[in-house]
Parts: sequence; structure tokens; C-alpha cells
Amino acid sequence: MARCFVTREIPGTAIDRLAAEHDVDVWSERLPPAPDVLRERTAGADGLLCMLTDPVDAALLEAAPHLRAVSTYAVGVDNIDVELASARGIQVGHTPDVLTETSADLTLALMLAAMRRIPEGDRAVRAGDWLTWEPAMLLGRDLHRATVGIVGLGRIGRAVKRRVEGFGARVLHSGRTDGVPLEQLLAEAAVVTLHCPLTDRTRGLIDSAALSLMGEEAYLVNTARGPIVDADALATALHAGTIAGAALDVTDPEPLPADHPLLSAPNLVVAPHLGSASHDTREEMADIAVDNLLAGLRGERMPRCANPDAYERPLGHS
Ligand code: DGY
Repeated sequence: MARCFVTREIPGTAIDRLAAEHDVDVWSERLPPAPDVLRERTAGADGLLCMLTDPVDAALLEAAPHLRAVSTYAVGVDNIDVELASARGIQVGHTPDVLTETSADLTLALMLAAMRRIPEGDRAVRAGDWLTWEPAMLLGRDLHRATVGIVGLGRIGRAVKRRVEGFGARVLHSGRTDGVPLEQLLAEAAVVTLHCPLTDRTRGLIDSAALSLMGEEAYLVNTARGPIVDADALATALHAGTIAGAALDVTDPEPLPADHPLLSAPNLVVAPHLGSASHDTREEMADIAVDNLLAGLRGERMPRCANPDAYERPLGHS
């Protein structure tokens, strides 16, 4: 029986399957464990089931000599030092595929909300500011006439492409090795939507120089990771009206402090990182996260492994 630390209560019954085989310690508070508490609770563990909010960094990996499997309840692994985990022979599991369509749905919801000004309309109705139908009230932009620029045509980027093509939009894409240059995409697209992972290369990719290439009628959508966008540069662009609006499911930091200039931008739609937040998807993610951890603890290759090279390596090797 292995010792496992699970850093949050998660939907469904998957954790019961883990607890049937192993000794499971579940963090039951609403806020995540602070990094030092995370390190302490993981120090004696063989397996860790973590969230995207948990830094699984060198300090944590070094403080946990028995750790042999890390499973994150997310597709993104940017919170984990995967290179060091691989060097130590620790498999890192994640949850691709099951959240692709749900995340693409949310992207479209935010894109349309920003372009058709739905939150502004909602606020106007509730505030009693909607007095009658008006010819020029809250005019937005059409997705069906737009050129949508997709940055990162991976699983979620392709699912977004299918959806916006279904609306009749024209699609451009830009990637590390294919598509049009990012500068061209930023200059031509009426909607720029980000679907690349957060890496050293993509951190700050959308900075003030990138935003200055976008037109005054263009929208930015980010449902990938907050630090891909320079939040201060975006706030400046929104307040100055040099782009038409933005829709964010992810921010840097997360959550934004109440006095952050982004939150006073009138043309911003923001959601609390809801990309994969549907009942069915979160339960499927829980099943995969537990399957990954169970396999890793058995010394088998995880079904969804972000660092398959670790499987070949002896534990503790660096
Ligand atoms: C992920 O899984 O990486 C998503 O951001 C969670 O919604």
C-alpha cells in the first residue's frame, strides 16, 4: 500500500478507487495548500495527485525522496518541473483529450460574449439602463464574417477551428513549425485565440508589441494560460481602445487582484479558469488522473503520460 497526497477534493468517485488500494490523504480546504505545506504533506508520499495551482518544483521533488508518480488533474503541466521529474524517473500523468471539446466550447462562449457584448448587455438590463430597443445599442462584431487567428493548432486549437468554421469564419493559424508568421496572424485576424502551452517560448508572447499589431476592431481570447499574455500591456491596450476587447478564462496572476487595471476595462469578459468545468469532463479527468496514479504506483506506464522517457529510467536517477 502506497501513500498518496491528493491536493484537493475532486468530483466523482475516482478517489474511492485510489483509496481502495492505497493510503490516501486528501486536502479538503477550499484554498490550495501553501507551497511549504504542499512540500511537507508530499514529503512522505509515494504518489501525488495535484492541481494546476500546485507548484511541483525542484524544492518539492527534492523533499519527497519516495515519490514515484505525479498525476495532475489538468492537461497543462507548466506547474510541474517535468524535466527534473523525468531525470528522477518520476512519471508525470495528465488529462489530455477528455477536456478538448469542453475547453473549445468555453472558448466559443467567451469569444461570442466579447464580440456580441453580452456581459455589458446583462449589466445594462440589471441596472435598469435598458429603456427600449435602440438601433445603435451595444453593437458588436460578427463571428461569421471574421477571420479567426488560432495560435497553436493542437488538440484544443483544432477543436476551436472546427467550431468557428462551422460559424462561417475564415481561419488562419500560427504554430511553432507551421502556419503563418505570428505577426501576419495578429495583423490580419479580427479575433486572435490562444491555444499554445505555456513554455519559456510562449511566456509573454502577447506583449505590447504583439498587441500593437492587432487592429482597433480586433479581439483577443485566452483560454490557454495567463502568462502567455502580458496582463499590464493588455490592460493598457483595452483602456486605450487600441484593440476592441478581450475574453479571458486565464489571467496572470490568477485570480486578478480586485484593483487590477484589467478589471476596470469596459471591454473585457473574464471567467475564473472554467475551460474544463463541466460535470462530465471533470469526472472523466478525475478517472484519468486516478488511472495514471494507480499505474505509476504499480510501476506500469501511465495511460496518459507527459514524460514517457521517465518510465524507462530508474527511480532517483538524475
Ligand atoms: C487544464 O487542464 O490544463 C485546464 O486549464 C483546466 O481547465
